[in-house]
Amino acid sequence: MTLDQILVRAPVVPVLIIDEVADAVPLARALVAGGLSVLEITLRTPVAMACVERMIGEVEGAVVGVGTVLTAAQRQACADIGAAFCVSPGLIADSPADGPVPLLPGVATATELMAGLALGYERFKLFPANVAGGIDALKAFASPFAQARFCPTGGVNAKNAADYLALPNVICVGGSWVAPVDAVKAGDWDRIAQLAREASALAQPAAAPTEG
Ligand code: 3PG
Repeated sequence: MTLDQILVRAPVVPVLIIDEVADAVPLARALVAGGLSVLEITLRTPVAMACVERMIGEVEGAVVGVGTVLTAAQRQACADIGAAFCVSPGLIADSPADGPVPLLPGVATATELMAGLALGYERFKLFPANVAGGIDALKAFASPFAQARFCPTGGVNAKNAADYLALPNVICVGGSWVAPVDAVKAGDWDRIAQLAREASALAQPAAAPTEG
């Protein structure tokens, strides 16, 4: 699957921080049941990769990606375990768009966008979206960077997601609000499925042009 094919599947990509491997599968099933099939498991806990493997093996309908990928070696490791995509908070040096697994790199400025375009990327995570100018920045990037499309993440929530999704250069948004840490800890999968249903009902902009 290309990055575009992945990013158009749902308006919201849940950003997941998972402490217990046992939570991985029920959490992913709740999100998929609620209509959010593209999942980003962040490499912020020691069990993250084990969670990714469990979700890939056991959760039908999930498109499982890895977030907080900071190095080319981590990207390769994601490819090796069969992750569908990777997300990074920034640009990974010497890791071009045609690497071992699709990568959505983070950018916050015009200069970073230009560096990303030079590496072959046209899809970016605007991060941290609310600090990096939010909706105004995305509107300002639209004309000089007509080929770029974004998944704003960082400070996006149920209140402002629709405003981001209304922008023509936004494909989808990312955020942790659909899987609150306390709900995961409590195993409150019904609440998470409900949050996912609300998020998946948000209007997603028209499909982005395919890559390549
Ligand atoms: C992250 O990488 O932590 C994401 O940007 C999530 O941000 P959020 O918690 O503000 O949704």
